[in-house]
Amino acid sequence: MRILLFGKRGQVGWELQRSLAPLGQVIALDFDSADGLCGDFTNRAGLAGTVRRVKPDVIVNAAAYTAVDKAESDPELAHRINASAPGVLADEAQELGAWLVHYSTDYVFDGRGNAPWKETDGTNPLSVYGKTKLDGEYAVARCDKHLIFRTSWVYAARGANFARTMLRLAMERDHLTVINDQIGAPTGAELLADVTALALRQVPKRPELAGLYHLVAGGETNWHAYAQLVIEHARRAGQPILVRPEAIEAIPTSAYPTAAPRPLNSRLDTQKLQSAFGLALPDWRVGVERALDEMLGQ
Ligand SMILES: NC(=O)c1ccc[n+]([C@@H]2O[C@H](COP(=O)([O-])OP(=O)(O)OC[C@H]3O[C@@H](n4cnc5c(N)ncnc54)[C@H](OP(=O)(O)O)[C@@H]3O)[C@@H](O)[C@H]2O)c1
Repeated sequence: MRILLFGKRGQVGWELQRSLAPLGQVIALDFDSADGLCGDFTNRAGLAGTVRRVKPDVIVNAAAYTAVDKAESDPELAHRINASAPGVLADEAQELGAWLVHYSTDYVFDGRGNAPWKETDGTNPLSVYGKTKLDGEYAVARCDKHLIFRTSWVYAARGANFARTMLRLAMERDHLTVINDQIGAPTGAELLADVTALALRQVPKRPELAGLYHLVAGGETNWHAYAQLVIEHARRAGQPILVRPEAIEAIPTSAYPTAAPRPLNSRLDTQKLQSAFGLALPDWRVGVERALDEMLGQ
């Protein structure tokens, strides 16, 4: 199997380099072009030419414009990277008969209610980022053999994410305020990459598995409880944590305005994925604690 991976240096892209390796030849590209290949999502012609040259069996797209607040003032670039470029990959993959794997987000929903969102539920993104990711889903679905994994609250031992920010802040400050009314599941880039590889092992013989899936770790939490777990884990590991447990203050979303509104209910129902691929998704704490040990060099 020849796999063309885009976005190799992102949180998910980095883990995909590891998880896809046993499946075959992986040609992994960064933002920068190399060896005449182009991984720049602002260069549509370069992307199309790259797919035609590599002729992959599978394209995995881990590149994205992920600066959620910045996207509000930069909608054109966000759309180009999150929707137009994946559309180019979809059309090229369709032409080749290749599979296309793509990642999307809970931000395609408006966060109403308390029930976990199913793949069949209506979307209604609140932000530019969410709208561009939804447009990306439509574009990717132009390729018959597509897998779209919607996920949430992604973290990894490397890269910019909430857990790493909390660790840093907890060593710099003695008081933190963290939102406690947004509910979701922190999901490891490792888990996303491993499930992608497991799914790719199955789809060549079962093309009917093509489609949209919700893929998040098991269980649920809010940002405040997540921060508490991160900080207590670091304290137990002997890190110089300044903030005391009672000084991690819970606040509502309304007290922390951001340029892009966030959905309050980011619960995603993963039954479809688990039964289609015969997988079990571990509780979110398992992956977070493992990543924390890695971050803390334990
Ligand atoms: N992070 C989350 O919490 C989250 C939640 C739900 C869904 N997702 C989705 O999951 C997927 C992976 O996210 P992630 O957390 O791994 O994101 P990430 O760490 O921000 O990685 C995205 C990668 O895309 C690259 N990129 C940006 N602009 C590009 C361009 N013009 N051409 C080529 N590459 C470009 C980035 O490069 P630079 O770093 O050099 O800019 C980065 O390596 C994305 O589809 C994202 O929308 C993420």
